[in-house]
Amino acid sequence: MTRKLFVTTALPYANAAFHIGHMMEYIQADIWVRFQRMQKDAGGNRSEVHFVCADDTHGTPIMIAAEKEGITPQEFVAKIAAGRAQYLDGFHIQFDNWYSTDSPENVELSQGIYRKLRDTGLIVTKTVDRFFDPVKGMFLADRNIKGECPKCGAKDQYGDNCEVCGAAYQPTELVNPFSVFTGSTPVMKPSEQYFFALSDPRCYTFLKAWLNTPGRLQPEMVNKVSEWLGEAGEKLADWDISRDAPYFGIPIPDAPGKFFYVWLDAPVGYLASLKNYCDKHGIDFEAFLKDPATEQVHFIGKDIVSFHLLFWPAMLNFAGHPVIDKLKVNVHGHLTVNNEKMSKSRGTGISPLRYLNLGMNPEWLRYYIAFKLNAKVEDLDFNGDDFVARVNSDLIGKYVNIASRCAGFIAKKFDGKLASELSLKSQEWIFKALTSNGAERQASIAANFEAREYGKALREIMEIADITNQFVDENKPWILAKDTDKNAELHDVCTTALILFRQLTILLSPVLPQVAARVAEFLGDATYSWADTRGDAVFNTMVGRTIGAYSHLMQRIDPKMVEELFDKPAAVATAAVATAAVATPAIAAAALDAGDIEAGDVEELAPEIGIDDFTKIDLRVAKIVNCEHVEGSSKLLRLTLDVGEGKTRNVFSGIKSAYQPEELIGKLTVMVANLAPRKMKFGVSEGMVLCASAADEKKNPGLYLLDPMAGATPGMRIR
Ligand code: 2FM
Ligand code: ZN
Repeated sequence: MTRKLFVTTALPYANAAFHIGHMMEYIQADIWVRFQRMQKDAGGNRSEVHFVCADDTHGTPIMIAAEKEGITPQEFVAKIAAGRAQYLDGFHIQFDNWYSTDSPENVELSQGIYRKLRDTGLIVTKTVDRFFDPVKGMFLADRNIKGECPKCGAKDQYGDNCEVCGAAYQPTELVNPFSVFTGSTPVMKPSEQYFFALSDPRCYTFLKAWLNTPGRLQPEMVNKVSEWLGEAGEKLADWDISRDAPYFGIPIPDAPGKFFYVWLDAPVGYLASLKNYCDKHGIDFEAFLKDPATEQVHFIGKDIVSFHLLFWPAMLNFAGHPVIDKLKVNVHGHLTVNNEKMSKSRGTGISPLRYLNLGMNPEWLRYYIAFKLNAKVEDLDFNGDDFVARVNSDLIGKYVNIASRCAGFIAKKFDGKLASELSLKSQEWIFKALTSNGAERQASIAANFEAREYGKALREIMEIADITNQFVDENKPWILAKDTDKNAELHDVCTTALILFRQLTILLSPVLPQVAARVAEFLGDATYSWADTRGDAVFNTMVGRTIGAYSHLMQRIDPKMVEELFDKPAAVATAAVATAAVATPAIAAAALDAGDIEAGDVEELAPEIGIDDFTKIDLRVAKIVNCEHVEGSSKLLRLTLDVGEGKTRNVFSGIKSAYQPEELIGKLTVMVANLAPRKMKFGVSEGMVLCASAADEKKNPGLYLLDPMAGATPGMRIR
């Protein structure tokens, strides 16, 4: 039976560009998909694989972000979506379709699933008290309310947990709560909410059997979800799937003013993207889902397990989704850097675009990530030295080295034609390289790719490379080439090495698709399939063949590039202490006039920008209405700023070394008012104030807050 696969990664929120963690998940899934696309059934038919994704568009944060920019949520999402391709193409991630949860298909499918759940009696309504902003006239999500932590008293904490002491609580427990939109005190207002009745015994019975089906989930996930289920489902609580208007989401049928909570329609977006893809390609979506051969496979991170292993399967099952029995969820850990959570301010953040802009080869990262991945829910650590050593040793030192040592002789001495038969000795070497304990290595490599044990698969592939290099080292083609009497031997050795090189290329092709395409061109192959790696196929396709000219396939990694890769702690700290790159030239020039900085200390001008670039930055006159020390921070001051919005903003600035809080209270300064809020250790910074500083702060220490001349008032725009 031809295997039919519907594969997805988690749908990213459409509120920001991709970070390196997204790339890790996409690379993991893309390798699996590419491996599956190489498989054929007994009749020679390739597996049918559909790999789709979409932007996860709904919810309050995107609604608010759009409002701040003065555009519609759809326009906001479209801007983010337009930036996706450079990352995906850049890292050779080949989705068949990229769609959106804000789509007609998703509305229809989400509402359809909801109606079926309602018909089975699994939707219940309850009246609950919710915080309401009386000024803005809207119910407030937990993160839209701030106040003092009920446990430690820290100010300016969100409604769900305290960033200072880590306590979790209900928004109703906050002391002196206020709405982040208007600063007003929220009031409690009863609201009818819709719940998915996860506490219904049918859900427990289904989930218990579903998760214990062998091969469906990783063992650690079976254990985790079993804990959540409890002995008899007593731990399962109903799930609130509704949000009140205004909300950017999908309307709940027959419930005016109510919308689906973003997490209800997000996973339905998997199906919406598939449907959109099927419609575009003349595939019968319903028939594909109903086909008993179809399997649905999700790749997700460990932070969103409850949505995918409780709510989603239960929703699919009770809505009568046909592939529920063939649903698999693969959970991965997070990407860490030097065993720590990535952090821009510590200089351990890695931007995928910077990686590409530095000219770093995307296949280095694909290989490194694959080498470190296994089927467990373990974090994957990126370590710069290890990255350089692994890639340079395996890909350059072992793999590419084979072709670069042998291909030239075939071109130079044999007109590009491989030997038409191999010596017995060479055949024995090939057998030695491609088998282990009498079994073909390609079979166990395939089993490891299938099981997402990529590290094991690559280690075994590198064993083949080691044996091939041993063969080349023993036979020394560069010595044979000096003696024309040894031409036949040289031909035999180089042909053998290239047969093994081709085998390595096919085995590596899910991980290194671009290299594989270039090798296929050089060797005169069409697309590769896994069947090409089987022992019987290996010899016959290559002997006597004329091949093309070899050109170098991959450079070594220069460790200096890796140093450049990380966010610069100093640069980030400067940003955090509120300097803006765009402000630098003017500020530096002003400093020069003052004659106290040597010319050599003036930073080079940033690349030229147009006026449009400048106007994107909304600079405002701000009044410092309060300023205080930040407990536990040696660098920061907390500023409360008024930019004429009828509410104040909280901004952290690293100017403690330069000013005492009381010097600043009541003064005017300049802030970047449309900078996205930044979550910092001590709370959220809602903008940035501007400071002048010398290029070399060690030589010329000093930070100077900008001070508008008399007459400026809070809220005035600087243009
Ligand atoms: O955690 C996230 O980034 C979510 N946007 C993932 C959604 S996955 C699926 F359910 F859509
Ligand atoms: Zn606290």
